[in-house]
Amino acid sequence: DLPRSVKIVEVGPRDGLQNEKNIVPTHVKIELIQRLATSGLSVVEATSFVSPKWVPQLADAKDVMDVVRNIEGVSLPVLTPNLKGFEAAVAAGAKEVAVFASASEAFSKSNINCTIKESLARYKDVALAAKELKIPMRGYVSCVVGCPVEGYVPPSNVAHVAKELYDMGCYEVSLGDTIGVGTPGTVVPMLEAVMSVVPKEKLAVHFHDTYGQSLSNILISLQMGVSVVDSSVAGLGGCPYAKGASGNVATEDVVYMLNGLGISTNVDLGKVMAAGEFICNHLGRQSGSKAAVALGSK
Ligand code: HMG
Ligand code: MG
Repeated sequence: DLPRSVKIVEVGPRDGLQNEKNIVPTHVKIELIQRLATSGLSVVEATSFVSPKWVPQLADAKDVMDVVRNIEGVSLPVLTPNLKGFEAAVAAGAKEVAVFASASEAFSKSNINCTIKESLARYKDVALAAKELKIPMRGYVSCVVGCPVEGYVPPSNVAHVAKELYDMGCYEVSLGDTIGVGTPGTVVPMLEAVMSVVPKEKLAVHFHDTYGQSLSNILISLQMGVSVVDSSVAGLGGCPYAKGASGNVATEDVVYMLNGLGISTNVDLGKVMAAGEFICNHLGRQSGSKAAVALGSK
């Protein structure tokens, strides 16, 4: 049984732009977020309050938030790796945050420079502070079907981290195939393990399209009862600490597939395509969305 409607979480301005070699000017980021927000998307992840030494691409997080915080009718979560990031995010006007843990020890070390256990302790502090201010907190688990260093990641490890994030108060836990190696063959057992400890209504899936498996993985996830999908306009994305990771599944491709399935998203495909064209023109590259390329050449 497929869900009747799906919530799309647009992550392009964060997951996409964090991986660009060239730093995108702040005003371009702001216009991208504004365009995405007016396309009907209910969630647009705006930026990250992480160390600018680790991710210089998003060092302007405060300046981006200064403008986009006033956009109405859309949630604009930001990544916060610790209390310092949480406090900076709140001071900049963020009304929603996201924390990100890994299902693999090696990736945790290379992405946030601590063990999984240490990261969960940090996130508990963030969760307490967020609860106090009534700020909703989303959780990510990365490397849910494979790690760039360790390779195979057991589903039980993913379930453990997902449950920890859920139990500390994350309203939704997004399961990330950071390097895009998953197929329905590995995604199904992973989801089964996670669904045995976290209600499926609270889960989102986050696929990178490195091996071209994202849409199949999304479809199988929907069939298993997931109804929240992360995607990135024009397929922007990757991860600076996951070598070889390519972009997220393209939002345009997800909307095209969901439209074809008669599943409502509230998202205007033409407007998302225009936002994709805007950022691709700026970056000087072709869209990573097959649907956008095909529809755009009609
Ligand atoms: P660290 O070096 O261990 O941290 O980094 P530290 O506490 O020792 O601090 C070092 C310096 O960073 C200090 O500054 C701190 O003040 C500063 P200094 O004294 O050297 O001038 N600092 C900060 N500055 C700004 N904002 C902060 C902050 N915290 C400390 N919040 C840390 C640890 C977590 C900070 C670092 O590793 C980091 O920022 N990592 C972020 C990496 C990242 O953003 N990765 C990409 C996002 S995850 C992803 O893409 C996967 C996902 O999409 C899901 C999927 O695809 O699967 C979510
Ligand atoms: Mg990602």
